[in-house]
Amino acid sequence: MELIEGIMTRRSIRKFTDKKVPKEIIDELLHAAMQAPSAGNNQPWEFVVIDDRKILNKIPEFHPYSKMLNEAPLAILVCAHVKTEKYCDYWVQDCSAATQNLLLAAHAKGLGAVWLGIYPIQERVAGIQDLIDLPADVVPLSLNAIGYPAEKKEPAKRYKKEKVRYNKW
Ligand SMILES: Cc1cc2nc3c(=O)[nH]c(=O)nc-3n(C[C@H](O)[C@H](O)[C@H](O)COP(=O)(O)O)c2cc1C
Repeated sequence: MELIEGIMTRRSIRKFTDKKVPKEIIDELLHAAMQAPSAGNNQPWEFVVIDDRKILNKIPEFHPYSKMLNEAPLAILVCAHVKTEKYCDYWVQDCSAATQNLLLAAHAKGLGAVWLGIYPIQERVAGIQDLIDLPADVVPLSLNAIGYPAEKKEPAKRYKKEKVRYNKW
């Protein structure tokens, strides 16, 4: 898939078949995520691949907008090792860039995916930290439900020319 086409056609997918995602494809998604830009090239990200059905099914107990995890075969958690942060709180931006790369790579591979917000909602941060034993200095930013899509969505049209200025407001 051509890059701009991928960017323009990606949508959040919340319905999945039960087909498993092969390990080689998961690895490709992780390579794409770690290719993201980061402040000072600090790469503060850490990833947790979650495919244990019992763990996936527990997440909607503390995350109200994550019911699709009951059928998604896989989720990838993007976290930051905040102790390694050299550049004052840029980790959110760094991990968001990694998350977007992950979502676009999933789309390019014919998978569906949706970004589930974790940080800065404290209940969700604590819920994930408890559930999968994250160390206290590893903060989860996004959980990404991934699988083969069982729904099809048209590309969104979001360009608004009034959102763009040149040189001065
Ligand atoms: C920071 C962030 C948090 C989000 N959290 C959720 C979520 O908790 N549950 C969910 O179903 N979708 C979530 N989404 C997906 C958005 O709802 C979705 O991206 C938006 O509606 C635009 O639709 P699209 O992704 O299909 O273009 C989140 C997206 C972002 C960027």
